[in-house]
Amino acid sequence: MWSRIFARIYEPSLWLGEVMGMRRRRDTLLRGAAGRVVEIGAGTGLNLTHYPEGLTELVLTEPEPAMRAKLAHRARGRAEVVDAPAERLPQPDGSVDTVVATLVLCTVDEPEHALREIKRVLRPGGQLLFIEHVRASSTFLAGLQDRMLKPWRGFAAGCHCNRPTVDVMRACGFEVTADSVAWRGMPPIIRPLMVGRATPAG
Ligand SMILES: C[S@@+](CC[C@H](N)C(=O)[O-])C[C@H]1O[C@@H](n2cnc3c(N)ncnc32)[C@H](O)[C@@H]1O
Repeated sequence: MWSRIFARIYEPSLWLGEVMGMRRRRDTLLRGAAGRVVEIGAGTGLNLTHYPEGLTELVLTEPEPAMRAKLAHRARGRAEVVDAPAERLPQPDGSVDTVVATLVLCTVDEPEHALREIKRVLRPGGQLLFIEHVRASSTFLAGLQDRMLKPWRGFAAGCHCNRPTVDVMRACGFEVTADSVAWRGMPPIIRPLMVGRATPAG
């Protein structure tokens, strides 16, 4: 029930953050997408208009039915929409040039599992482009994120506001180049953002 309501309120609840910089960040990040592209947890499709022309293929995955219904409507004729969690992608090994994850590795149940799966589908030289909110570097804000974890997860459909996602990427064998920025217009517990590119090490 809540997931259906969340799908309805998702875009209105992000509106201020989108106009205060997230839309521009999506646009800048996705200019780097190329070739066969798979987006995980694509939600309602807020990235869709920011993909460059000339991609070989664009596949948007989304496991949540209410989100996927909105996504399918928006993506009609522009991208393929697939029902799949990030932990079990349908793409063959080494077949994808770019994986995109925006505001999703905070929500997947098993980020290590999802990152291993991303590595599996990426071809040699492939990339993960991401925008993720992360655990704060300030002790005070990180403590607040820890205290708010449970109520925030309940409200935001499973989102972990205190997850150190870039550390998890590195622990899973990715080399990461990222900028630390603030998600203006959003609550402090999800304001620390990392925006960048990760590639399988070695
Ligand atoms: C905060 S929304 C982000 C949506 C979109 N990526 C964006 O930038 O607006 C998180 C999304 O992750 C999806 N999600 C939850 N668990 C997932 C999983 N295991 N694998 C992939 N996506 C998942 C949710 O259904 C939701 O659409």
